[in-house]
Amino acid sequence: MFSWLNKKDQEDLQDDFKLDPNNIPAHVAIIMDGNGRWAQRRHLPRVAGHKQGMDTVKIITQAASDLGIKVLTLYAFSTENWKRPADEVNYLMKLPVDFFDTFVPDLIKHNVRVNVMGYTDQLPAKTQKAVADAIEDTKDCDGMVLNFALNYGSRAEITTAVQEIAQAVKTGEMEPSEVTDETISQHLMTASLGQYRDPDVVIRTSGEERISNFLLWQIAYSEFVFMAPHWPDFTPGLLQQAIYEYQHRKRRFGGLSK
Ligand code: FPP
Repeated sequence: MFSWLNKKDQEDLQDDFKLDPNNIPAHVAIIMDGNGRWAQRRHLPRVAGHKQGMDTVKIITQAASDLGIKVLTLYAFSTENWKRPADEVNYLMKLPVDFFDTFVPDLIKHNVRVNVMGYTDQLPAKTQKAVADAIEDTKDCDGMVLNFALNYGSRAEITTAVQEIAQAVKTGEMEPSEVTDETISQHLMTASLGQYRDPDVVIRTSGEERISNFLLWQIAYSEFVFMAPHWPDFTPGLLQQAIYEYQHRKRRFGGLSK
């Protein structure tokens, strides 16, 4: 099972949380919260938390791929994060450049395809280039999809979808009565994920229990796992624990248990 995660990180996995290999969630989405608090607790600048958070992204990508997850969506920057001080925003914009510079060869080696959803045209040119290059360089990989939400906001995403659908109705391409659930899903930024577009489980770190404008449509039937550690302290063992918890939930999708 573990072809990528190194020995030390594998040791973090615990026998107490043995996973059913036949019930691994296909799409895991993570709200990576708590970088700032992690840093402040150590009397470090907030950006030190983001840097450590980037290293955690690498380890969790390895663990998720080894566990057989099909799509790992990571909330890296929201449409609301522009409100932060310029220094912090600039740093967060540089992180994808550093990340892809150092990690794309490993992603290719392990057959991981990069996808990015969000209003990427509003990102600085260097960030846009790093993202476009990573997508291009990994486009033939058919293993896990590493899906970054970057300058992503769910209300904006839904608004854009509604505008597109309204336009199609206006031009006579479709009738209002032809707009279905499926039409809306097709117009969201997750559409390219096909059968895996809706997360099976959403994990949020740092003890906060809210959704923060993340995949509001797509999480209709997702399971939620809220965990106390800050994102830089997140480990493969905690991912395993979250999946274990997911595997012990009864998903009914509005119906009744069998
Ligand atoms: C939330 O913590 C985290 C973010 C807004 C940024 C997340 C980014 C990373 C983990 C690095 C991403 C890496 C790549 C490769 C793009 P916070 O700063 O809101 O924490 P706080 O609530 O403690 O202040």
